[in-house]
Amino acid sequence: MKKKSKWLDEYSRPNQNAGQQPRQEKAYFGYRRVPAHEKAQWVRDHFNTVAKRYDLMNTLLSLGIHHLWKRTAVRTMALNPGDRVLDVCGGTGDLAILAARYTGESGQIIVYDINRAMIEAGRHKIHGSLLRKCVWFVQGDAEHLPFPDGYFDAAMVGFGIRNVTHMDLGFNEMCRILKPGAKMMCLEFSKPTAPLFRWLYDLYSFYFMPLLGGIVAGSYKAYLHLTESIRTFVLPDKLTDMIERAGFSRITIRKLTNGIAIIHMATKD
Ligand SMILES: C[S@@+](CC[C@H](N)C(=O)[O-])C[C@H]1O[C@@H](n2cnc3c(N)ncnc32)[C@H](O)[C@@H]1O
Repeated sequence: MKKKSKWLDEYSRPNQNAGQQPRQEKAYFGYRRVPAHEKAQWVRDHFNTVAKRYDLMNTLLSLGIHHLWKRTAVRTMALNPGDRVLDVCGGTGDLAILAARYTGESGQIIVYDINRAMIEAGRHKIHGSLLRKCVWFVQGDAEHLPFPDGYFDAAMVGFGIRNVTHMDLGFNEMCRILKPGAKMMCLEFSKPTAPLFRWLYDLYSFYFMPLLGGIVAGSYKAYLHLTESIRTFVLPDKLTDMIERAGFSRITIRKLTNGIAIIHMATKD
């Protein structure tokens, strides 16, 4: 238990996740070190495995709390009717669908994700509803966004930036496609602050989550990877630095559920 539940110390985290200057040859995939150029493939395989049961597993594992986190995160963005919004690493489109409540039919929301299986798992949610008039799915890599400079009124990334090999490129790109003064929201897992709560969370994450992943989604390994990837991810202050370096300012942090998840809100200069 002790060895498995290791949260990487503050020196290791930036080295592997934010260590893009100079670029690292290795990247973390869970606790495993893989060649950086292979990480995207590892991530793609991971999401191919979990895509069909992704939404169900999120709800089971978080006891539905992820819906609250997402709702809070999107509400914080203060979107307006008609806004153009990019949902980077958008997966099955949960954040995009919530955002559409604010942007309305005149808005334009693009769910942008590298994984076809995740997109397919999300597309049915908008079929037959008015949402299909304003929500689109586009497949591609967050490190290279195929959109013009200053096109969007807002950008968001939910539980996705952790998976991007060069997070700085992802943030740079989000900054580039936003209009000056536009908001960027990043929702990610983090490290609970209360030690006892963290201990319980570790027990839950290392034992129950992979077990349920094995039973419901057919992959123990994929859900152990999820647990590990959270523990190797940069802490909120370092993530703030990275977001700032990408060209954002007025960065605020909001802790959810004792820090299991964190919302970073930022404004493009
Ligand atoms: C944990 S899911 C989050 C999905 C959704 N945002 C949510 O909150 O439920 C992470 C998503 O990031 C996508 N992803 C990972 N690396 C990516 C990359 N380099 N570019 C675009 N999408 C990526 C995965 O395919 C996956 O759908």
